[in-house]
Amino acid sequence: MSRVFSGIQPSGELHIGNYLGAVKNWAAIQHRHPSFFCVVDYHAITVAYDPAQLRQRTRDLALTLFAAGLDPAVCHVFVQSTVPEHTELQWIFNTVTPLGELERQTQFKDKAQRQEQVMAGLLNYPVLQAADILLYRADVVPVGEDQVQHLELSRVIARNWNARFGEYFPEPQPLLTPTRRIVGLDGQAKMSKSMQNTIGLLDDAETTWARLRPAVTDPQRVRKTDPGRPEVCNVFALHGAFSDAATQADVATRCRTAAWGCMDCKKVLHEAMERELVPIRTRAQALRDEPQRLDDALADGTRYARAAARETIAHVKDAMGLAPAG
Ligand code: TRP
Repeated sequence: MSRVFSGIQPSGELHIGNYLGAVKNWAAIQHRHPSFFCVVDYHAITVAYDPAQLRQRTRDLALTLFAAGLDPAVCHVFVQSTVPEHTELQWIFNTVTPLGELERQTQFKDKAQRQEQVMAGLLNYPVLQAADILLYRADVVPVGEDQVQHLELSRVIARNWNARFGEYFPEPQPLLTPTRRIVGLDGQAKMSKSMQNTIGLLDDAETTWARLRPAVTDPQRVRKTDPGRPEVCNVFALHGAFSDAATQADVATRCRTAAWGCMDCKKVLHEAMERELVPIRTRAQALRDEPQRLDDALADGTRYARAAARETIAHVKDAMGLAPAG
């Protein structure tokens, strides 16, 4: 049976783009495969950051993942740095990773440009990612398009290790999320915290509406009487994610015929979003009220993950002629 692994960085509050593009898919997949979902705090320290903020964001993200539907009775959710075998395997993988492959990674080149000083950890980021996945010998990795190159590198690492020390690691494949790229409320860039074009997954109804109300729609629709083009409208794209098929068809017709203004369309979207988001906010509040439940769920995830990780490391060290752990 295929094993699933995916990771998410605690780099800020989870927004509906992360939810639709990743976490919602994870919540579905957990019922079909043994699954590990990891808050990758070791990845988050590869760029400038604040320790107190990292601590808070790691906890908030874990809470949000459970609220969004990851079930600790079904899958394994944990924080990366609580399982030290991730960095142990990463060191080992550094020795079978060609430097040229790391330098070619587009995400490295992008991020390096934005740093005052580029540290070696940023270059080696994809090696840690390969270690995350292969530590659990996972072969299915639900990710977005932007991670495809990192997964190619994971396969190179698995192949190189296997060729040198014996067949052991599977070659992990990306499982691309069905939802296409979520565009931000500015109607231009991909939804991302740094672009300030998001709606937070745990924002309340009023905040959600305040964000949605001024969102950019079809730029050619200047007056309410202008017919709109749902196919180019990012608000309509959100209907695609939150509204049922009948509502989507209805909204599209009213937009094309200018029977509705954008505000009418947004109100219907807001109602559909509320239906999906209210239970998530409620679960989040319940976990905030009972922090021990969050700690317990994460501790369970760590315990399970660590047992699996130790087995892998024992095999790897033995195959490589390294001494076993003391
Ligand atoms: N690099 C991934 C991202 O930025 C996060 C990540 C770290 C990850 N380790 C992983 C994703 C392992 C999938 C599997 O989205």
